[in-house]
Amino acid sequence: MQTERLEANQDGLARAGALLASGALVAFPTETVYGLGANARDGRAVARIYEAKGRPSFNPLIVHVANLEAAREIGVFNEDAERLAAAFWPGALTLVLPLRPEAGLSPLVTAGLDSVALRLPGLGLARHLLEAAACPVAAPSANPSGRLSPTSAAHVLAGLDGNIDAVFDGGETPIGLESTIVGLSETPILLRPGGVALETIEACLGQTLARPGKEATTTPNAPGQLASHYAPRAPLRLNVVSALPGERLLGFGPAEAGQNPLLNLSPTADLREAAANLFTYLHRLDREGDAPIAVAPIPETGLGLAINDRLRRAAAPRG
Ligand code: TXA
Ligand code: MG
Repeated sequence: MQTERLEANQDGLARAGALLASGALVAFPTETVYGLGANARDGRAVARIYEAKGRPSFNPLIVHVANLEAAREIGVFNEDAERLAAAFWPGALTLVLPLRPEAGLSPLVTAGLDSVALRLPGLGLARHLLEAAACPVAAPSANPSGRLSPTSAAHVLAGLDGNIDAVFDGGETPIGLESTIVGLSETPILLRPGGVALETIEACLGQTLARPGKEATTTPNAPGQLASHYAPRAPLRLNVVSALPGERLLGFGPAEAGQNPLLNLSPTADLREAAANLFTYLHRLDREGDAPIAVAPIPETGLGLAINDRLRRAAAPRG
């Protein structure tokens, strides 16, 4: 299959929207990472996502919508959901809500669960595309399963060229790391840290979020949570103050005396900048060799929670 590269202009939008509506696989940018989209009501199209990614079929997918009305037709919004949507949508927050069976989603999207993950993306281009498609769009990150998430159209093509119908090229994604996922089917729970900081979500709800227990790293029910994920080829060592000979240092903050980081996620220790650079730099290190990667310590606050989560998965023993 030839993968079409579509430009971010009116023609490109119309073409990408028509392709999605007709059951094709189209990768597109959001403010977090590129998604691999398919019409969420078209079971054959959704099946092709799993196929193209080589993804275990028990992983449910996030459904992307163009506006809040479309989200309400798919999920049941309680008071907390309304409050979070009002505060953070459009944006890098995914809400897991009870599914409305009449929404007509393919059961493959939710992997048979009676809940659904919904997101109204913050990037205008993504919303225009969703409007053009005029259907809910299921989209996991547009990378082969278990590999790094893509933050540019070039990353998408490096992993999936020839296996998908098109990539809609909207340049680099501004946040560079996936959305935060909050489950609201029962007690509010943080299912995945991400682009919106946990602290701001808790402040909005006026309560702390529950956190998944240890079993979440092995059960298929919490898939983005599988321990080994987001992995470059080279082994990773975390919280490294002194790199060993032969290790490639990925720095954070002002370099310590004697340290010579090959790349620095943020020389000024800005967590937002570090998040935006994370996958781009891991991709670059992945392309440029397989010597072990040592990563400097990153504070466990704000977006640091999500950055460390992705790094721990990248460093986990490969399954
Ligand atoms: O930023 C993002 O969220 C990107 C862009 C493309 O929107 N998407 C993304 O999707 O990261 P994906 O498929 O890589 O991650 C989806 C996560 C998985 O960890 C999955 O377990 C969780 O969402 N999820 C989806 N539906 C769920 C449900 N009903 N219950 C619990 N978790 C769910
Ligand atoms: Mg992913």
